[in-house]
Amino acid sequence: MSVYLGIDIGTSGTKTLAIRQDGTILASTTVEYPLDTPQPGWSEQNPEHWWQATVQSIREVLAAGKIAPADVKGIGLSGQMHGSVFLDRDKKVIRPALLWNDQRTTAECAEIESRAGGREALIGMVANPALTGFTAPKILWLRNHEPRNFERLTQVLLPKDYVRFRLTGEFATEVSDASGTLLLDVRKRNWSTALLEKLSLDAALLPKVYESEEVSGKLTKDVAAQLGLPEGVPVVGGGGDQAAGAVGNGIVRRGAISATMGTSGVVFAHSDEVQVDPAGRVHTFCHAVRGKWHVMGVVLSAGGSLQWYRNQLGQMESSVAKSIGQDAYEVLSAQAGQAPAGSEGLYFLPYLSGERTPHADPHARGAWIGLSLRHGRGHLVRSVMEGATYAMRDCLEIIKGMQIPVNEIRLSGGGARGKFWRQLQADIYGQKVCTINASEGPAFGVALLAATGTGAYKSVEEACDATIKVVDSVDANSTAVAAYNAAYPLYGRLYRSLKGDFADIARLVGSGK
Ligand code: XUL
Repeated sequence: MSVYLGIDIGTSGTKTLAIRQDGTILASTTVEYPLDTPQPGWSEQNPEHWWQATVQSIREVLAAGKIAPADVKGIGLSGQMHGSVFLDRDKKVIRPALLWNDQRTTAECAEIESRAGGREALIGMVANPALTGFTAPKILWLRNHEPRNFERLTQVLLPKDYVRFRLTGEFATEVSDASGTLLLDVRKRNWSTALLEKLSLDAALLPKVYESEEVSGKLTKDVAAQLGLPEGVPVVGGGGDQAAGAVGNGIVRRGAISATMGTSGVVFAHSDEVQVDPAGRVHTFCHAVRGKWHVMGVVLSAGGSLQWYRNQLGQMESSVAKSIGQDAYEVLSAQAGQAPAGSEGLYFLPYLSGERTPHADPHARGAWIGLSLRHGRGHLVRSVMEGATYAMRDCLEIIKGMQIPVNEIRLSGGGARGKFWRQLQADIYGQKVCTINASEGPAFGVALLAATGTGAYKSVEEACDATIKVVDSVDANSTAVAAYNAAYPLYGRLYRSLKGDFADIARLVGSGK
């Protein structure tokens, strides 16, 4: 039997999954670790935690799945994108990694734009504008704020690529994650020497770039012994968590779109060519499918908004849920179902951590607007779900505006679990949505990349066709669609009205420098 491991270095934990070639899941385990916020807006992790979690989760999966080590034929790596691991000449980590949701680099983003010769020139080189979460501004931040650490710097790696280095001893990355550094020439699928020169960054700081299913290295003898695996197991390129998750959802052909509602929300479209939004509102990155690209919009607090509501205001519903043996989200959804579509004029702006698509505004904040005496808990919770889903629709509208066909929307993440939110998504997107048999996300996607890269499948498309099937669909309800179409334009206007006030609030609390 051939077994493939998919490892996803997430923000809250590392998940390792073992599958058979036909996609059957043999075992899956997640090992958690902390996230540090040493200052407001900062977000850091210790790369050693990722490594320890990888070792532990691989060992646990092998034991839980009763997997014979000799059956493991390939490993795929996925992970949180955009993070920066800084290594010195002894290949040791210099300081904690800055993560994708770290917001400290506003000044460095402006510096990149100006060195590049303006926003348009920058988008011309790397297909994307400079955003605070991306990797390049983090490297400049190190140079500007910790010059002694910058002097020691010899290598910059993304989170999953640091784990690859520990597994194989190789400095390597792959096209999909590399796109999110802002240093990749996304058209040519290799580093942009033009931008590196303008930023006065040495290309030697960056690892070799592979395609996502290509073998990038093999397990070293020492690490193989530590993991209980044979020496030399191939490790393929893998993918950033969004591209890998898209492979895991079968989004590998034109017309297929996924809407993933996790803590953050992502609308992801496959694309056969490089398609760039001139306004830079959505990201254009290489796909984990050879010679293909993708366009995606990222909502920073989608499911995260409902999670915030549950934790801060839903204690009563949580204890009711506990007493009847249900999930708190089921009780909250039932309550939301008592309010009508549009929540009788109550809007929720889900910008609890600022927003990426479409506003690229770290200072945007959450808000309820339109509250009246008529509104009760059902309206409150429904408006939160609607606000998060309008934010996803913002991404979808931009993608449609780029003439990318939206033939099929596949839902995944927490927002796909309950019938109520699935229906709400169909109604707000205004079209049928479906769910598939696989729900393991990025770890599943990179296990398929490992199977492809080691010869079990001819292509990533073939691997997806063999393992992923649509199992359910929900049609949009025409009355609700009409109500949401009437309500949605005002949702967009509310942010525009409040934008200046959000900046003032940031100045007031001291994070608006
Ligand atoms: C994608 C993004 C997140 C992170 C963390 O652009 O920022 O998906 O990869 O999951």
